Amino acid sequence: MKKPFDQNAPYQPATFAFKDMAVVAEIISRYPEGRQQSAVMPLLDLAQRQVGEEGAAATPPFGGWIPRAAMDEISNILSMPKVKVYEVATFYSMYNLAPVGKFLVQVCSTSPCWLCGSDKIKQACEKHLGIHTGETTKDGLFTVVEVECLGACVNAPMAQINDDFYEDLTAERTTEILKALASGKQVPIGPQNGRTNSMALGGPTTLKDRVKA
Ligand code: FES
Repeated sequence: MKKPFDQNAPYQPATFAFKDMAVVAEIISRYPEGRQQSAVMPLLDLAQRQVGEEGAAATPPFGGWIPRAAMDEISNILSMPKVKVYEVATFYSMYNLAPVGKFLVQVCSTSPCWLCGSDKIKQACEKHLGIHTGETTKDGLFTVVEVECLGACVNAPMAQINDDFYEDLTAERTTEILKALASGKQVPIGPQNGRTNSMALGGPTTLKDRVKA
C-alpha cells in the first residue's frame, strides 16, 4: 500500500503551477466541447510527472506524486469541484498522493506471481534496501510497495519500477536491478531470463513455419 491521501500532511506544498500551460491546453483540447473535465486523468498524470522531474534533480531525490495543491489547480483549470478531482485521484492506484522514492518498486503479489515466487522478490527488495514493504529508503531512492496483478502474469514473477516492467525475476536478479538503478545504470526492461517477450525459453513451439509468399 502506498501512503493514503492526507491533505494536511506537512509535506504538502502550499502552491502548485504547471510549468507549461501550452501542454495543459493541448490535453484539454483533445476532448469535445462540454467534456473538458474528462482531462482530469491526463492532467493528474502530467502533474505527477512534473513533480517526478523536479524530484529526480533534488537532494535527496524523490519520485512523482500529486500534491493537494496540484489537484486544486486542476479543479480550477477544469472548473470542477475539488472533491471530484480528489475522488479520481484517490480511486486509481497509479496516482501517488504522498511522496515516494525516485524509483517506485511495485511488486506484484497476485496468485500467478505469488505461485512463481513473488514473496522472494519482495524479500530481496526488503533485504537489499533495508526497509519494509510500504517504506522509502532514507536516501530517497526507493519505495517498495505490493500491488495486485499488473497484467504480465505470463512472465511472473514481475515488478513495475516507475514506468517499466521487469519480468521473469529471481531474487538475485532483483537485487542486481536495484543496484544498477541506484548507480544510474540502464537496465534492460522486460524478461530478465533471456527469453523474448512471453515466448518459451527454448524458442517458438508453434507457428514455426513461415507463410509461403
Ligand atoms: S499476477 Fe502478477 S502480473 Fe498478473
